Amino acid sequence: ATERTLSIIKPDAVAKNVIGEIVTRFEKADLKVVAAKMIHLSREQAEGFYAEHKERPFFGALVEFMTSGPVVVQVLEGDNAIALNRELMGATNPKEAAAGTIRADFASSIDANAVHGSDSPASAEREVAYFFSADEICPR
Ligand code: CMP
Repeated sequence: ATERTLSIIKPDAVAKNVIGEIVTRFEKADLKVVAAKMIHLSREQAEGFYAEHKERPFFGALVEFMTSGPVVVQVLEGDNAIALNRELMGATNPKEAAAGTIRADFASSIDANAVHGSDSPASAEREVAYFFSADEICPR
């Protein structure tokens, strides 16, 4: 079924100047960008986005990293988009990410891991709405 998922190109990948290379992987896999913007997240925005991780030991470092520089947030649309995007990304820890995945090729650590992607339909719905209003999404 056609789905939408939220993708974030994280500060490390933006700093490495590989926004285009990452978007190309989405496009080559038939995912379409239907919304996109670059933002430098505030502490409040990052804490709210990652609220489910609030009690985890890595929460402080995660918020620190995600606010360290600009990110590119995008809505990707396509058949099976949520799982497909996670396949393209590879495992959270780049050391465990399969060869040829975005994290294997561009990530340097579990914190600086290049990309985020929604992990379920429920998170996709929440995460898309967290960054985009309905009129910022352009069906195509
Ligand atoms: P992301 O998909 O953006 O969701 C939460 C982020 O926390 C995750 O990617 C990692 O970058 C970061 N993180 C740091 N340590 C861990 C950990 N031990 N387990 C899961 N996520 C972690």
